[in-house]
Amino acid sequence: MSPQPQAAVGAPLSRVDGRLKVTGKATYAAEHDIKGVVHAVIVDSTIGRGRITGIDTRAALAQPGVIKVISHLNAPRLAYRGTENDWPDSKQLRIFQDDKVLFRGQPVAVVVATTLEAAEHAAHLVKVRYDAEKTSTDMATAPAGEPVNYARGDADKAYESAAVQVDATYQQARAHHNAMEPHATIARWDGDQLTLWDKTQWPMGTQKDVAAVFGIPNDSVRVISPFVGGGFGNAIRAWPHIAIAAVAARETGRPVKLVLSRRQLYFGVGYRPSYEYRVRLGSDRRGRVSAMVQHLKSETSTYENFIEGVLNTGQMVYNAPHVRQDHRTVPLDVNTPIWMRGPGYATAAFAIESAMDELAHELDIDPIELRRHNEPEEDPSNGLPFSTRRLRECYTVGAREFGWNRRDPKPRSTRDGDWLIGTGMAVGTYDVIRNGAQARVRLNADGTALIQSATSDMGPGTYTSQSQVAADALGLTMRNVTFQLGDSTMPTAPPHGGSQTMINIGSAVQDGCDKVRKQAIKLAVEDKDSPLYGVDAEDIVVRAGRLHVSDNPARGETYRQLLTRNNRTHLEVLGSWTPGQARHSMYTYGAIFAEVAVDASLGLVRVRRMLGVFDAGRIISPKLADSQALGGMVGGIGAALLEHTVTDHRDGRIVNANLADYMVPVNADIPDLRGIFLDGGEDLEADPIGVKGLGEIVYIGVAPAIANAVFHATGRRVRELPITAEALL
Ligand code: MOS
Repeated sequence: MSPQPQAAVGAPLSRVDGRLKVTGKATYAAEHDIKGVVHAVIVDSTIGRGRITGIDTRAALAQPGVIKVISHLNAPRLAYRGTENDWPDSKQLRIFQDDKVLFRGQPVAVVVATTLEAAEHAAHLVKVRYDAEKTSTDMATAPAGEPVNYARGDADKAYESAAVQVDATYQQARAHHNAMEPHATIARWDGDQLTLWDKTQWPMGTQKDVAAVFGIPNDSVRVISPFVGGGFGNAIRAWPHIAIAAVAARETGRPVKLVLSRRQLYFGVGYRPSYEYRVRLGSDRRGRVSAMVQHLKSETSTYENFIEGVLNTGQMVYNAPHVRQDHRTVPLDVNTPIWMRGPGYATAAFAIESAMDELAHELDIDPIELRRHNEPEEDPSNGLPFSTRRLRECYTVGAREFGWNRRDPKPRSTRDGDWLIGTGMAVGTYDVIRNGAQARVRLNADGTALIQSATSDMGPGTYTSQSQVAADALGLTMRNVTFQLGDSTMPTAPPHGGSQTMINIGSAVQDGCDKVRKQAIKLAVEDKDSPLYGVDAEDIVVRAGRLHVSDNPARGETYRQLLTRNNRTHLEVLGSWTPGQARHSMYTYGAIFAEVAVDASLGLVRVRRMLGVFDAGRIISPKLADSQALGGMVGGIGAALLEHTVTDHRDGRIVNANLADYMVPVNADIPDLRGIFLDGGEDLEADPIGVKGLGEIVYIGVAPAIANAVFHATGRRVRELPITAEALL
């Protein structure tokens, strides 16, 4: 069969929606212009645990423009049928169903008014009385639950008898996603039909969650979300404010807009949970790791047990024959955490890659050499062959491009004026998530195509990259392809998170487009009036909307000519991909290299340059991939040096619930960053388009690379993220 020419895939194209975004015409959740909309503002609990003993709404209701105040005293009883979205252990916060307060900031009432100003003012006038109890928000002192366990071999014995041992405990602070766009929902009921314009990374997930809240069929809820201003995982799940907007709309009979304030984003939606991660490594003197023992603790809420895939890395990244892990969650008086970029894997990488660096130092072995000694030939957790694992190549390319071999391994050996200079490296791994998906493909008689799937674009550029896949599979130019997303009525899509969008949606788009192209070719070769009549279908390719014999471009015709002559307004197919049973171990990989400068007397850390080399399978859209690499590394710098949600354990209040006190990297914090995606990495075991996903892997390993560089610069091992000046003084 003649392969379709590849013109769009692999080309460094700019975003097809770039102009819409920079001109403000991309419509985000709160910006949809819905007739008759009124405004809702949530009243948050000011205690961390206890009961509501009274709510006085008289002053609020007396304000001009206030329509209603809803609390557990007057809210409808809601069904809270079990949701079909069973992760994370989704019991959901049952808003306004009783007088219990489970965490500080929990919604206790909502004010609906004709203007935002009236709603905000009235929300301050709602007087809530509480019976407060002692709040437990400190993971260090609260009791942990039952562990999730993993074991192979006899790790404790192997550790005890190892020639060299490292035993270290690493802490990672709670962090918030802090996307630019706040979470926002507009809810409107038309009879029994609910429409939500929502910020979501998963339109169908929000649809199912909200349908479950009301106990109505999934089809009764439609979720519309064409643009998302950053997500990082936080918009995968339907949070309480979405249900509140829907309740408020039903109770007032008006469309209701509810936008969380920046402050409310620190307790109204999820966050990356804090972790304590103890690693024990046992090795021989040449650096072969025989044993890994790992004990983890992470925070969760009292009403849901959030647990993420944090144990996988320790099971497959290195070849240790003896591994034992246990992970306990600690229920606290907090709202439920959620996945945040590189979920689980980034946390594991910080602990394991720091410990490996400690071991390399102990053994006086180069950190890359140590990792090469422990590179498995097959997945040691299940004996499966790797589909593709090019970590060795990441090391080689990274060492060469970064200039690793010029490094003096001795800590605190390089100075530049007041600054101590150091370099460090770390490895990242991330799962290849295969859920399957569907995409509708419609080829119109005018030679344009419309492709739809109920996915999302939180920033990576789904509109663009899916159009690239479609353009080549259909044989159209990018200009004639439109990809639409962000509507739960479109064909089924899994969450737009976990780096799975290109894997799943891309495979479904390609399937649908291949089928439509083949339908058109069949139509042509069977049509006596076509110049392609009688040609073997396998010999025909389509290029820029024109079907022709692959080695005789002169013989052919356009889609438009073919469809018009045959009185076809369009050809349409529902493309789909369903992954088969995995016979391989499938992950993405990265090696991150960082150079830092540390002010010896002030403890300030500046990242000077950074390089990431990634094995992410085939790259569909190099410019977007590069953009992800830069963004991932910026995020990793934030995790390493700045990001920390601080809780006052006396009352559960988040102290820095704003972007002035919660530090994120700004331009001045960001040096030269470079991402390299290894060429030729097509992974057809993973999926039909050979991709492995890349949004997570570009972030994972960044923080430990920086931490290891800080050790190399200073000789001080900081085992807590973020690395602060105080820790270095
Ligand atoms: Mo992210 S945690 O892949 O949305």
